Amino acid sequence: MDEKKLLLGQTLRFSGNPFLEGLNVVHHETFGGVLIESGKIAEVGERDILRKNHPDAVVEDFGSKLIVPGFVDAHAHYPQTAIIASWGKRLIDWLNTYTFPEEMKFIDAAYASEIAERYLDLVLSNGTTTVASYCTIHPESVDAFFHAAMSRQMAVVAGKTCMDRNAPDGLTDTAKSAYDDSKLLLERWHGLDRLSYAITPRFSPTSTREQLEALGSLWKEHPECLMQTHLSEQTDEIDWVCDLFPEARDYLDTYEAAGLLGSGGLYGHAIHLTDRERARLAEVGAATVHCPTSNTFIGSGLFDASGLMSSGVKVALATDTGGGSSFSMLRTMAAAYEIGQLRGTSLHPAQLIWLATEGSAQALHMSGQIGHLGRGAHADLAILDLESTPAIQQRVAIADDFWSSIFPTIMMGDDRAIHCVFVAGTKRY
Ligand code: GUN
Ligand code: ZN
Repeated sequence: MDEKKLLLGQTLRFSGNPFLEGLNVVHHETFGGVLIESGKIAEVGERDILRKNHPDAVVEDFGSKLIVPGFVDAHAHYPQTAIIASWGKRLIDWLNTYTFPEEMKFIDAAYASEIAERYLDLVLSNGTTTVASYCTIHPESVDAFFHAAMSRQMAVVAGKTCMDRNAPDGLTDTAKSAYDDSKLLLERWHGLDRLSYAITPRFSPTSTREQLEALGSLWKEHPECLMQTHLSEQTDEIDWVCDLFPEARDYLDTYEAAGLLGSGGLYGHAIHLTDRERARLAEVGAATVHCPTSNTFIGSGLFDASGLMSSGVKVALATDTGGGSSFSMLRTMAAAYEIGQLRGTSLHPAQLIWLATEGSAQALHMSGQIGHLGRGAHADLAILDLESTPAIQQRVAIADDFWSSIFPTIMMGDDRAIHCVFVAGTKRY
């Protein structure tokens, strides 16, 4: 029989959404434990009770470190790993100057594989155990990413980015080849191990209506897959979409008209939304993805996390690497907090952690499987050192409750705060 592992430390788990249900759904245990069997969480509880009931388990005692689910990054571009932190451009110029030239390199399968390996090592070292990533237009970039994730037993979502206009030669496909390649990749990878395929039109400016419709048809044939794209990130992008699709009621309508609006839709950024767009996103149960470091770095705007959540729109959290300026979901939570402050809403540390785990898992339709500290979930876990630097340590020294002892790590923590990471019950970092 599989070895039982018992991890001891502080634990934090959720039985609901703290944005909608308050802090009663947040459960913190100072002397807690997580029992792992066959790569899954078998039990979460008090350390002494777990020790007594499972004397056969191999114990790893993390003391006062905090056991949380591994973070779930709901929107990233692994091919942009090497160009993260590129200076001085806003969205469209940033894409043309930095992103597209880098993405061209992924025609080379060896390069794609090198970056996929590098990227997944970086995210794991930052406590992230699941990502939903765009690849490039090259099928090789999808194969490279899924191979790298599979060798780490990670649950990931990814898809071939489709673009048939307004991108350089060498970085475009067609409506037909986007459909054919995506279908082939989907059939090859979706459901294999812990891998999921997402149909991935980059965004309306780089797809013709014909391409969006072809991908809409593919989604209709494969509703088990997610669909990821970008929505209303910058105001001049929205103006461009209105010019390119004069018949559309708004940006979201360019997707809706093509069959690309649904509950399995992940809409990255979603900052400058009309009332109709917000209402439709809520009505169909689609998810918006908050990419706070990217939204400040590229100068896009202030996402309305609390407002969208209370209008019934799902919200996930993401780095948007490499438009985002960090691989760290801790840094991403800090940026979400700062944006909340600029909008007049102080997000509670429990809400920030919920977004980075349960909220993103919900958006990826993986609630209860990942991002969750509870029986039956995959044992994808991050062990956080809440005193990882002298600056954090001295702040924690005067903390008078659990929340003020974790908040300095959210605001100032980085990969040094990640003591170790388990993927499916195996230590991977
Ligand atoms: N919109 C279309 N493509 C991209 C991208 O790669 N990054 C960001 N931040 N926005 C986009
Ligand atoms: Zn993006």
